Amino acid sequence: WATSAYTHEDFLQCLSLHSQNTTSISKVIYTPTNSSYLSVLNFSIQNLRFTSPSTPKPLVIVTPLDESQIQATIYCAKTHGMEIRTRSGGHDYEGLSYVSEVPFVILDLINLHSIVVDAENGTAWVQSGATIGQLYYRIAEKSRNYGFPAGVCPTVGVGGHFSGGGYGLMLRKYGLAADNVIDARIVDVNGNILDRKSMGEDLFWAIRGGGGASFGVILAWKINLVVVPSNVTVFTIDRTLEQNATNLIHKWQSIAPKFPQELFIRVIISRVDSNHDDGEDTIQASFNSMYLGGIDQLIPLMQESFPELGLTREDCTEMSWIESILYFAGFPSGSSLDVLLNRTQLSTPYFKAKSDYVKEPIPLFGWKGIWDLFFKDEGELAVMILSPYGGKMDEISESSIPFPHRAGNLYKIQHLVYWEAEEAEESEKYINWIRKLYSYMAPYVSKFPRAAYINYRDLDVGVNNKNGNTSYAQASIWGMKYFKNNFNRLVQVKTKADPSNFFKNEQSIPILPSWW
Ligand code: FDA
Repeated sequence: WATSAYTHEDFLQCLSLHSQNTTSISKVIYTPTNSSYLSVLNFSIQNLRFTSPSTPKPLVIVTPLDESQIQATIYCAKTHGMEIRTRSGGHDYEGLSYVSEVPFVILDLINLHSIVVDAENGTAWVQSGATIGQLYYRIAEKSRNYGFPAGVCPTVGVGGHFSGGGYGLMLRKYGLAADNVIDARIVDVNGNILDRKSMGEDLFWAIRGGGGASFGVILAWKINLVVVPSNVTVFTIDRTLEQNATNLIHKWQSIAPKFPQELFIRVIISRVDSNHDDGEDTIQASFNSMYLGGIDQLIPLMQESFPELGLTREDCTEMSWIESILYFAGFPSGSSLDVLLNRTQLSTPYFKAKSDYVKEPIPLFGWKGIWDLFFKDEGELAVMILSPYGGKMDEISESSIPFPHRAGNLYKIQHLVYWEAEEAEESEKYINWIRKLYSYMAPYVSKFPRAAYINYRDLDVGVNNKNGNTSYAQASIWGMKYFKNNFNRLVQVKTKADPSNFFKNEQSIPILPSWW
């Protein structure tokens, strides 16, 4: 602690010395003695697992108001032996943007959230500290016929989301958020501010899906907006085991990835009370969908390809694309669009998540075993979200950006379990349950590597050494799962961009040794 206190005093002194405007830097620094330190720290934390008193806390939080304060923070952290954790929206599943076991500073970009939409050219510049909800709001403000293919939850931060890929209900039509990034601004380890031209195509490739935290601090992204119809159609159809859910999911697996690109039907699986009477539980599959078109086109399409679901006109609602954002985020119909500007999550649980990719349909008996696990105690608050691939995702090459999960995948699974109590035994119980589910899934999902999505961060798939020196072989255990062969190029880019491995965390890209 003595060393930390010393380090942090020196760090603070350095910051005021190296800031262009000393008065303003003092307003954006929070240390544990500051009365708002904990509220600033906890504000964007999405996973209560990382809010306990024993969770390591930052020595300092800096919430920069301009780019020069980021440059000063990097310089002073480097000089005074502190690690930096960059936080944009704070949604990291394993808390990597705000927890570290070594003395560290959080660079929280919450104040850097400007969004400039150029409707004439169909582009926008968005700062990393903005949320995707804010981005959607600003796009819709300019035009009903533009949208952007990023995530479902409006409070997700642009900084982490785009740098890890980022997907939502337009994935099959337009790919990932990162596929639609055309320029970026980044502060590198030497404090230089670079754009696409000055950073070069290798680094620009790496930050679109390779995770931003390994390469510097991404300030802003330039994106191509995508065209959306004036009205889209949404529906949610719930089916329980007694209503043929297992067979419907079984069929969905092979047809959902082949639907026209405009149609995205995901399945959300959970355990529910059969008759809403606290009696016996059943499994429910919610077929939750957006179609980029009208009801009149959707109904015949569904009758032809998925008549078993029994979709009727009454199940469907036409609305603008921006209204569909509210629908999928779970806001009541008629809510004001202004809710998208709010950064506070509706609810924040304790949770653990994992991801999988499915290449062959899971057989019926495979699903039965999954239901058995859901019927165990811990399965009460578990969810599986199946998101279909195909469409545009099949057309983009595996090496186009670091995100490699393209043709050959039928769908992606997100496994999730929530709980409410903070006792360590509770967490252990639920985490063990999801690990059991993950082992059970092994025969049915991708292999060699068992692929995973970096934005659904899971430290169980492998971590770096705590001392910061991690070999290529060790890091490739998790790296190949997230990036397949793109991991090799990421290591080369990292070695060039940050040769001293200053930007590091439990799953940051390692550097090659100098003799390599
Ligand atoms: P956070 O600030 O925690 O950062 C995540 C990682 O990126 C950290 O390693 C951090 O250091 C780094 N980072 C952040 N900003 C950076 C910057 N400016 N420069 C460099 N590195 C930076 N995903 C998805 O694809 N589709 C979805 O629909 C959803 N939905 C969803 C809902 C909810 C409730 C949660 C909690 C999460 C999701 N996600 C998701 C996952 C989400 O995409 C993922 O957690 C993102 O990394 C979150 O980005 P944030 O900026 O919010 O996180």
